[in-house]
Amino acid sequence: MSQSNLNIKQVTCEPFQDQKAGTAGLRKKVTVFQKPHYIESFIQAIFDTLRFDKGEKLVIGGDGRFFNDIAIQKIVSCAVANKISHIYIGKDGLLSTPAASNLIRCTRSKAGIILTASHNPGGANGDFGIKLNIAPGAQANEKLINQIYERSKKITSYRIAEIPNIQLDKIGIKNFGDVRLEIIDPIDEYIELMDQFFDFELIQSHLKKKVKFHFDAFHAVTGPYAKKIFCDLLGVPQECIVNAISKEDFGGMHPDPNPNNAKYIYNLAMSKSSPDLLAASDGDGDRNMILGPGMMVSPGDSLAIMLANSVIIPGYRKGIDGVARSMPTSRAVDSVASSLGIPCYETPTGWRFFCNLLEKGHIGLCGEESFGTSSLHALEKDGLWAILFWLNMLAGLEQSLPEIVHQHWRRFGRCYYQRHDYQISDMNQASDLIKYLRQSINSLPGKSHFGSKIIDANEFNYTDPVDGSISENQGIRVFYENGGRIVFRLSGTGTSGATLRMYLDKPESEITRQHLNPNDVLSELANAGAELSRINHFTGLKNPVSII
Ligand code: G1P
Ligand code: ZN
Repeated sequence: MSQSNLNIKQVTCEPFQDQKAGTAGLRKKVTVFQKPHYIESFIQAIFDTLRFDKGEKLVIGGDGRFFNDIAIQKIVSCAVANKISHIYIGKDGLLSTPAASNLIRCTRSKAGIILTASHNPGGANGDFGIKLNIAPGAQANEKLINQIYERSKKITSYRIAEIPNIQLDKIGIKNFGDVRLEIIDPIDEYIELMDQFFDFELIQSHLKKKVKFHFDAFHAVTGPYAKKIFCDLLGVPQECIVNAISKEDFGGMHPDPNPNNAKYIYNLAMSKSSPDLLAASDGDGDRNMILGPGMMVSPGDSLAIMLANSVIIPGYRKGIDGVARSMPTSRAVDSVASSLGIPCYETPTGWRFFCNLLEKGHIGLCGEESFGTSSLHALEKDGLWAILFWLNMLAGLEQSLPEIVHQHWRRFGRCYYQRHDYQISDMNQASDLIKYLRQSINSLPGKSHFGSKIIDANEFNYTDPVDGSISENQGIRVFYENGGRIVFRLSGTGTSGATLRMYLDKPESEITRQHLNPNDVLSELANAGAELSRINHFTGLKNPVSII
């Protein structure tokens, strides 16, 4: 089909005013994305902003949730009409977020459009999302997000090519005029990447001899990757990889790997017959939850433990130049960084803030409290990578997971950590609460309550050390004399109402106090946070909807 034979239509529409990406892409209810022109208009705003030159390439794929395939057909029609020279699509329309990032790098594509709402529920009544990544695989930065948003508010027409539906299950190449469309299987390339970092042979023999492993894929995107890596390559029995078939509603599960949602794997870890290592990932495969007999490794601890033991992993033997964590993440990694004499950066919430630091080589490892960890191997967080890291660590150290964790606490201290989420139905109430907190910041230092004294309170502003860009108002933090810290911020990934996140952490260096129940250790901070924010006054809420 030559370009001139392609039927390209210019469709007029009213501009949308709500296409501003949040913490990780444009995320809304499926029904919003189903509105006529909604996707096409947003995609046109992306293409108008990025301006693809002849020869430049685009990656497309998603986590397989409801609407994934329909969205892909629409996006391909837009891409063909906008004459993007070369388009790669994951087989069946599937690409995990880290695999998509890897594919952008391997194919030297200019960008990737990833269809995911990450850990949010799927299905017709669930959420959908569009995330933009740019070469060499990083999440779109603040500046680009704003440019696309500005453009989207003015779009009055978009281009669309009238092409037949693409058969996403057939690997191969199709040409539409000068546009080349390639359906590819991304799993082998992803495995090649993992093979550069981990000792597969060692892991395999350890799994054969000693370690029982269990993984829950939540019927999301990682199932096929996990089967190939853990079963085919590492010899894990098939039945140890559960919920491995990708489904558009995630089998009715909430694919958010945390103790509240990953009940099956959590309960298994707490049972007498717990395997030695258990893990789960999320909808698009970028999060990880790590558990062992009788315990879950908190994400902040996981990052700290990975850094402390990184030299035993082949890909990190040469050492790590720096580390980063998002501001509300537990400060467990800080003490490891300081003992190694490497910098520890504190960034706003959202993976995109790590990307510049990773790209410039300032850091080699980074993570967030929300079960996201990764390294310089990718510019995205990476669930399966983190799990392989733990498997390699267990094999290399020849220790059990609880031994590794307890030894780490003895050496570096334990940082008790919790996140309390309050679900507020009225966005105005949430804004009033934040406004009130902001106004009270200056009066807080010196105030004594709940067993300690506030020594500092401020709002976190971030200047990117690479490009100098400034991101203001990224969370209100309160520091106590006894080492405790509370952080308040509103979620940027929800699709209705507002979620107040209250993050609590408290370091404990005294060995005899390292095995307490976090609920007990943090209850005073939790009460202090509820009082400082006047949550009950502003919202009527008495308790958080979840504690993680
Ligand atoms: C949440 C997490 C954040 C993560 C993001 C995308 O964002 O808190 O760490 O980067 O999801 O996975 P939030 O809803 O808090 O804005
Ligand atoms: Zn995710």
